[in-house]
Parts: sequence; structure tokens; C-alpha cells
Amino acid sequence: MVDLRGRDFLKLLDFTPKEIEHLLKVSATLKKQKHKGESHRHLRGKQVVLLFEKDSTRTRCSFEAGAVDLGMQATYIGPTGSQMGKKETIEDTARVLCRMYDGIEYRGFDQSTVEALAKYSTVPVWNGLTNEFHPTQMLADVMTIKEEFGDLKGRKLVFCGDARNNVGNSLMVVCSKLGMHFACCAPKALWPNEELVKTCKEICKKTGATIEMTEDIMEGTKDADALYTDVWVSMGEPMELWEERIKLLKPYQVNQKVMDNAKKGAIFLHCLPSFHNNETTIGKEIEEKFGLKEMEVTDEVFEGPQSRVFEEAENRLHTIKAVMLETMKK
Ligand code: CP
Ligand code: NVA
Repeated sequence: MVDLRGRDFLKLLDFTPKEIEHLLKVSATLKKQKHKGESHRHLRGKQVVLLFEKDSTRTRCSFEAGAVDLGMQATYIGPTGSQMGKKETIEDTARVLCRMYDGIEYRGFDQSTVEALAKYSTVPVWNGLTNEFHPTQMLADVMTIKEEFGDLKGRKLVFCGDARNNVGNSLMVVCSKLGMHFACCAPKALWPNEELVKTCKEICKKTGATIEMTEDIMEGTKDADALYTDVWVSMGEPMELWEERIKLLKPYQVNQKVMDNAKKGAIFLHCLPSFHNNETTIGKEIEEKFGLKEMEVTDEVFEGPQSRVFEEAENRLHTIKAVMLETMKK
């Protein structure tokens, strides 16, 4: 019996494969209920607070809409407008908010901040993205793969891009936990940090998962069931990094040639937002400066028949609801 009541959700390293699989099952049930229009207000009368020190569309909306679906109310606190960090420590913020709310979501910079929030809070704290990890994203990603293929064990997921960012790190963890094959295709300078690789390799010994790191994108993407990429410069990193990252990562762009190198029937995933065209402010700026119209993924792949990015985005809602429900229910 899996019991997650009262638990924080800070990183997937803290969870067993069984617990992760349980959250996926609950997510699937909640998805069915939502699609059928069946009421599932299991947390009626509770309240959550959402702390965002970085921008967000999917994560914020999943927590807000998800809270309402579950019968709750949500308070959003953005990067400005609260005392947090400026006049009040994270420890004090946690001790105040847990007297008013039944759950706290946090998106920000250092993983140590969300860990401190959890330490000083008496209600569950959920990590909505830090520089190091993005655990709620992972549940949506593996849910999407499971929906496509019916299983996860033995499936090969390949990440192309900045593999030491929050998404790259977290994908390596979730694949290790669930007995999947994880490969990252990136220049050595952007491979995940050695300590985390070591920890994940220990997990792999128990689950049958494997981890491969290569600078050769054609070698790495062979036999892949899912190809995954993310932005080349993450939130909180300086704009000046774009030039260097473009040079380093252009050879790791997911284009049709790379997709064709994967297994027949492979899918394309991306946590979003994505620079697959030049129709955003930053996209335009990059085009003017560096002459690139598309970056980590081509528009052809993003819009193509193998892309599951919007299914994946929808699954953010169902999986985040599962995390709130399982950690908050009585
Ligand atoms: N994938 C993701 O976390 O998206 P947002 O930044 O829009 O929340
Ligand atoms: N690596 C990206 C993920 C966005 C969901 C970032 O941190 O900006």
C-alpha cells in the first residue's frame, strides 16, 4: 500500500519506483474523471499557496486549475509583491504560510530554498521547478510515454541539449527509477554532474535501467522510443549565454534527420516553452543576432506527426493534481 499523506514532493530521488507508479495511476484516474466531467472535489475546503520566483504558464495553471478541480482555492504569489526573500527569510515565510494553507508550491532558483521551505513547513511542499530539478514535469513526461506505448520499463528516452539543467537531471533520475534507458546527447561540458550520475547508476543496478552519455547524436538517438529536448538557456541564466550555447548545442538540435534515426514510431517530447520558430520576442532577438529561425527543435518536428508535446502539457494538470491529492488527503 502506497501512502504519501503529508509527504513533500521536492525531487524524485526521494521517491520509490512504487510510489512514482502509484502517482501515475492516480493521474490516469483523475484524467478520466476530468474528461468525463465527473466531479472529483476530494480536497473540498482546503487551500494552497503558489510561490513563483520565476515565470510559468503550465505549472502555475496546473496548480491553479487543479486546485479548483479538487475543490480547493489557490493563492498565487509572483516574483514581486510579497515579502519573501527581501524582508523575510524563507524559514519565516514557511512558518507563516503553513498556518494559513494546507499545501505550498514553490518555483525558484536553488533546490536548497525549496528544501528549507519544506523543513520549516508543517504542510506538504511541492517543487514546481528549481535550477536543479523539475519533478512534477517528469510525471507528465513518463505518463505521456506510458500512454503512447503502454509501458515504461525498457523504453529508451534520449535527451538532446543542456543535459545538466533541471529537466536533463530529472529525466535521468526518473528513467533510473523506472527501469528505463536514458541517454543524453550533448557536448561533454553540458553532461549532468558526476555525483548525480553516480547516484543514478546505483539506482539503475536495482531497477535494470541504464544511463549512456555521448557527444554523438546519431549514436545516442539510435533505438530511441522518445526524443526529448529543452531550451538551450534556462530561466535565471544570463542572456549573454546564448552565443556560447548556440555554438555548443546547434549540432544537437532535434530535426527530422534525428527523428528518423530513432526507432520507428518514436515520439517527440518537450517540456515547453519551445523555440521552434521565431514568433516570440526572444525568438526574434535570437534571429536578428545569430540568424537562427528555430533552435532546440525544428518547426517540422514540433508540428509533425511524432510530436506529443501538447498531450504532455495537458498531463501536467493531471499529474500535479495527483501530487496534491495524494500528499494532502486525510
Ligand atoms: N514546462 C513548464 O514547467 O512550463 P512553465 O514554465 O510554463 O510552467
Ligand atoms: N530548463 C527550463 C525548463 C522550463 C520548464 C528552464 O529552467 O527554464
